Amino acid sequence: MANFALPRNSKATGGKTWPKPEGATETREFRVYRWNPDDDKNPSIDTYYVDVNECGPRVLDGLIWIKDHIDPTLTFRRSCREGVCGSCAMNIDGQNTLACTTSMHDLAGGVVKINPLPHQPVVKDLVPDLTNFYAQYASIEPWLKTTTPTPQKEWLQSHEDREKLDGLYECILCACCSTACPSYWWNSDRFLGPAALLQAARWVTDSRDEATGERLDYLEDPFRLYRCHTILNCTKACPKKLNPAEAIAMLKRKLVERQV
Ligand code: SF4
Ligand code: SF4
Ligand code: FES
Repeated sequence: MANFALPRNSKATGGKTWPKPEGATETREFRVYRWNPDDDKNPSIDTYYVDVNECGPRVLDGLIWIKDHIDPTLTFRRSCREGVCGSCAMNIDGQNTLACTTSMHDLAGGVVKINPLPHQPVVKDLVPDLTNFYAQYASIEPWLKTTTPTPQKEWLQSHEDREKLDGLYECILCACCSTACPSYWWNSDRFLGPAALLQAARWVTDSRDEATGERLDYLEDPFRLYRCHTILNCTKACPKKLNPAEAIAMLKRKLVERQV
């Protein structure tokens, strides 16, 4: 089922051009990656024309319009339509980003080119298989770990300590950063990637957590953490304006500090 041969150019692979919608006075061209595991065909790029006067402005609006009005087989993930669930992450005009927060009218060139997130197996069309990505997230044990018995109902935290989580807790696990990272492309079986590492940093930073040493032990590995070579694609890609590269640098610093 997995397919790593993601085409980057519609001319190179062909595909179907769907007719322009009847009566439309203004259209936007969408070139969309298609691949169906149920036939023997190679991936292709289909061309669609969206009636912009009948459709919302975001790229996700365009995809939903295509699915509703032209081609119900077009497959993609989406849920919240407001940049909080991370489901609609895809590669739009060469950038990993969220389809629901990207305006089709802001893209240069007038043509909207859409591929699945890079270097992941494809389930169908724009849906990547993120099984490994989620398993890596689970491996950092993203929950509060404590050993001290507490009589209180809640683990309290000062405002100051809570503020230390800013820039970390907002991650929506969209995978835009990890799938933009060259180190992750080549070593995603062993390198945790920027998303899981930013989440690890979130728990290492949490003043209430009592498993910091254990968490750092897990990360102290030539691949899990140290395959990051500070290329910074991750930070550039994040649609929530977070800085995974900085979080990774903080984890590396903590590992050095505990040795001196
Ligand atoms: S800084 Fe570079 S190597 Fe490190 S996680 Fe980000 S993109 Fe990957
Ligand atoms: S750090 Fe940003 S790009 Fe990476 S998974 Fe979280 S929200 Fe997405
Ligand atoms: S649909 Fe939820 S982030 Fe785009």
